[in-house]
Amino acid sequence: MTVKPKFDGEVRPSTYQDLLATDSRPAPALLGETTVDFGLEPVPASNYTSRAFFEKEIEKVWLKTWQYVCREEHVPEPGDTYVYDLLDKTAIVTRQPDGSLKAMQNVCLHRGRKLVTSGGCKQQFRCPYHGFTWNTDGSFRENPFGWDFPQIDPKRFSLPELRLETWAGFVFINFDPAATPLKEQMWPLTEHLEHWRIEDCTMVAHVGKIAHANWKACAEAFLESHHVYTTHPQINGTNAFESTQYDVLSDHVTRFISPVAVTSAFHPKLDDEQRVALLFGRAGMRMDSQAEVVLGPGQTARAYAAENARRELAAATGFDFEGAGDAEVTDGIAYDFFPSFHLWGGYRDKICYRFRPWEMDHEKTLLEVMLFRIAPKDGPKPPPAAFNMLGEDDPWSGAAELGFLAGVYDQDQSNMAPVQAGLRALGETGVVQFSRYQEIRCRNLHRMVAEYMKR
Ligand code: FES
Ligand SMILES: [Fe+2]
Repeated sequence: MTVKPKFDGEVRPSTYQDLLATDSRPAPALLGETTVDFGLEPVPASNYTSRAFFEKEIEKVWLKTWQYVCREEHVPEPGDTYVYDLLDKTAIVTRQPDGSLKAMQNVCLHRGRKLVTSGGCKQQFRCPYHGFTWNTDGSFRENPFGWDFPQIDPKRFSLPELRLETWAGFVFINFDPAATPLKEQMWPLTEHLEHWRIEDCTMVAHVGKIAHANWKACAEAFLESHHVYTTHPQINGTNAFESTQYDVLSDHVTRFISPVAVTSAFHPKLDDEQRVALLFGRAGMRMDSQAEVVLGPGQTARAYAAENARRELAAATGFDFEGAGDAEVTDGIAYDFFPSFHLWGGYRDKICYRFRPWEMDHEKTLLEVMLFRIAPKDGPKPPPAAFNMLGEDDPWSGAAELGFLAGVYDQDQSNMAPVQAGLRALGETGVVQFSRYQEIRCRNLHRMVAEYMKR
């Protein structure tokens, strides 16, 4: 007998933990559930549309929080320099002769020209305007017209240094010298991702595109999974999004875990597990999507997908995945680190998002998607993928390096400009209604913005 799922929204579907209990191999304790309730208060629409609110966010949030700049592999040799622009700030990250990294303000101290226009390997930083020059450690080297600047003491004319800390090859900077240490603030994301071999990963794709929406409206498109129902209907057959677990793990770190290779109750019932497994492959969510699907007796699509993933991961990397739970090799395990760094866990390709307000415009955001893959155990790590910046009219689906995800991002982005337009239309007194549970990560984003603004 088939039971018709109840679509009236009154009944909470089975939980993620219920599903884990039926898995063929158990999940680690770090996938456990946390509960927190931030109430039901609506959020003002003007949080996304007000210029004054945005200016306060710049000062109180963006210039006080850790920002992911680049990977250590982007700057492997002494002198290698990466330029990072955030709002009206510009910074350089440079590898030092002793192997350490330094972040400095990327502005000429003469008349304020942006000092380094593009990255690469540098012997020195020479301003293209009048030739003031700094060493790559930020100390002042020369001024061709030194005789005319008696007020400048070369010993006290170094480029101002910025806070820089790294974790697992990710380089972060902070414009606030008093910021809490990165790893302290990023826990437990750090510990969880280390479990999934983040240290062995290499960046295999990096794609960006501008969206015409406030940065929070963009980030929110990736903080919950119940939009899969209407925005990504092609996934409903293999993603029981209604059983997604939402966790607030600390003030700065939240997570959802969305079960994959399980059919949503909102999808017409598939006649057998074989169909689910096939659909999973066709959606491109399996590595060997072309292979024939042969389920063992009584085997579920989820157990089958997990078994395949373990085998494929071992073949591709040389590591052993026999101890990995089904959840760790199938599900979408999405973390975010306030305000704008998102990183997925699990052993398969880890998705990473970064959202930055663009051109000082509160209604424009640079969306970036990166993929991190466990590199083969033996042999050197390949260099990071080159950045593919899509034009205004280029669809995400043109970025072949993102595989099946590219089409998914076109669907996500199709909501962003209309959301911003709607928020504007709501006006000064309009509000946004977040759900209690499934949108708890959106609530946390606004809660933390408010917290920082109070400081
Ligand atoms: S502005 Fe840089 S040397 Fe004059
Ligand atoms: Fe989406």
